[in-house]
Amino acid sequence: MGSGRDILGLIAQSQDLEQFRRKNWEGSFEEYLDIVRHDPRVTRNAFQRVYDMIMSYGTESYEESREKRVHYRFFDDPDDHGRDAVFGLDVPLEALVNAFKSAAEGYGIEKRVLLLHGPVGSSKSTIARLLKKGLERYSGTDAGALYSIGWHNESNMQVEWCPMNEEPLHLISPRFRADIEAMLNENVSAAGRPVKIVGELCPYCRYHYAERLKKYDGDWTKVVSEVRVRRLLLSEKDRIGIGTFQPKDEKNQDSTELTGDINYRKIAEFGSDSDPRAFNFDGEFNIANRGLIEFVEVLKLDVAFLYDLLGASQEHKIKPKKFAQTDIDEVILGHTNEPEYRRLQNNEFMEALRDRTVKIDVPYVTRLADEIKIYEKDYNKETVNKHIAPHTIEMAAMWAVLTRLEEPKNASLTKLQKLKLYNGKTLPGFTEENIKELREQAAGEGMLGISPRYVQDKISNALVAHPESRSINPFMVLNELEGGLKHHSLLTNEETRGHYRELLQVVKEEYENVVKNEVQRAIAADEDALKRLCANYIDNVKAYTQREKVKNKFTGQYEEPDERLMRSIEEKIDVPDGRKDDFRREIMNYIGALSIDGKVFNYKTNERLHKALELKLFEDQKDTIKLTSLVSNVIDEDTQAKIDVVKGRLIRDYGYDDESATDVLNFVASIFARGDTKS
Ligand SMILES: Nc1ncnc2c1ncn2[C@@H]1O[C@H](COP(=O)(O)OP(=O)(O)OP(=O)(O)O)[C@@H](O)[C@H]1O
Ligand SMILES: [Mg+2]
Repeated sequence: MGSGRDILGLIAQSQDLEQFRRKNWEGSFEEYLDIVRHDPRVTRNAFQRVYDMIMSYGTESYEESREKRVHYRFFDDPDDHGRDAVFGLDVPLEALVNAFKSAAEGYGIEKRVLLLHGPVGSSKSTIARLLKKGLERYSGTDAGALYSIGWHNESNMQVEWCPMNEEPLHLISPRFRADIEAMLNENVSAAGRPVKIVGELCPYCRYHYAERLKKYDGDWTKVVSEVRVRRLLLSEKDRIGIGTFQPKDEKNQDSTELTGDINYRKIAEFGSDSDPRAFNFDGEFNIANRGLIEFVEVLKLDVAFLYDLLGASQEHKIKPKKFAQTDIDEVILGHTNEPEYRRLQNNEFMEALRDRTVKIDVPYVTRLADEIKIYEKDYNKETVNKHIAPHTIEMAAMWAVLTRLEEPKNASLTKLQKLKLYNGKTLPGFTEENIKELREQAAGEGMLGISPRYVQDKISNALVAHPESRSINPFMVLNELEGGLKHHSLLTNEETRGHYRELLQVVKEEYENVVKNEVQRAIAADEDALKRLCANYIDNVKAYTQREKVKNKFTGQYEEPDERLMRSIEEKIDVPDGRKDDFRREIMNYIGALSIDGKVFNYKTNERLHKALELKLFEDQKDTIKLTSLVSNVIDEDTQAKIDVVKGRLIRDYGYDDESATDVLNFVASIFARGDTKS
């Protein structure tokens, strides 16, 4: 194995020649008509194609805060291993997909510019990139196929392909369209998309068409015999069907970038600057025909182009210099960030544009779990050659989300608690309905705050800033985040800066609580002791719920259930006194249900009880393991052995490595040494 021949063999085996042939299909106009009859989808317009492409990946429905939501799998970027996956934006993405849907039906949105609007770094460009990549791929599949035309040139025996990716059916003169559509649509089901011929030939094809009409004395069938049709594979790199327009500085914009330019060299050859053969139809609008054009920072566009843009969206027409209005069929997707949008809010440029845009707000993520996914995509075991200590990314993400949340109106609720509620945690006294209200009270939430890009940069800094260390921990990242605030270019306001610093403090405190809890649980993760404690607790709960007595194993006497023991466990997980009966009954029901199935209760299957038992055990044992002696540096052998056991558990159960486990034990020891032993 491994010889040159093997390698070639491997490639030979996996290449799909049949697929290649299909993708590179070329034929006559007549053959194209057969293709259309067989599969009318090839004539879909750009909006229909984009919508069908998104839907071809499937959807998932779910409920959040009592509202129905749809998740479009397309935005998970499954074809690219999730590289451009978008997390936590199901609501804005649903608005976007609905806009495509409505445009696909021809309800009017197809005459608008779709404008993604949001704060910097909210994944607007990522969404645009996904759509472009998706279209490229879709055009290469059987379901997404589309075709364009070329003209056979007898003098050099070559085909001159339409520079604007023209739909071949444009060759059919309007007089005949209704009849031909009817024939082509014979096989279309009620649910399918019927063929509808919209638009005229582009100037280039119109020229060739007229030439041949003259040559054949008006015989259309002879004209089309010189037409070639080929499969169109959309490709941004090849400038086919996908365009991007990025405004440069205001003085340097030129409309030829959008609608094409005269080719002066060819004027000499063809004699006139209005000969379409002496014109390059290679502006972004031209080449993006049949697909999608992205306007990066569309509000930076010079006013001179506004009319090009508005005409392109409203009329589906562009005006190349020296030529008549030309039909186009493409999705126009612009984006702009929030500061730019606000700057131009009272500008008349905006007025004209605003009236013709469908604005889709793309906010920052406000669910911690989603924000974590953004960073885990970039920083994980595969991509980073350092160990990332547990909670490192979580704490950075927590801070980012906190900066985006509005202060809760309910004064008894902290921002951190609100973050936890949004993240799916239940807090006593808060229902799903309350969470929905919280979201509604803060409608603009997510349009301000720290961008993921800032956090990504600081995690990167932290990764390189400590060459001596094999792992990065939350403090390294939090310090980078804090250090960068001084120079943050978008933070012009001292008050906000101060507030973001305070929120870093909130995160640090939360981190203390989290790791304290983790270390306590690791200390108490003694399975035999936990089992004994659990059995004892269950015996008491059983007696309590059935109003019986418990047999004292030592004396053999029957005694009242040990209320102090039960409460000391339940308090660890905040079961209030008023809810204790419910909690105990639930546990007994659970055990009862298991025994009906012939199963035995194991405390590990009940996450809350498990935690309560560990915390209780820790409380009972904390004096036997002298964690605080870590701080004093003089450790006897016995303590060291116990600490090593705990360290081993942190590595085994909580994802630490040796270095980060040592760090975290030292850190927690220092907290305990401060005398802060609240659990
Ligand atoms: N909801 C999200 N899901 C996944 N990744 C996200 C999300 N929000 C931001 N990102 C990540 O943040 C980074 C910035 O995203 P992107 O460049 O798409 O933002 P943008 O909105 O175009 O920003 P700008 O307004 O500055 O152009 C990318 O790495 C992107 O993957
Ligand atoms: Mg961008």
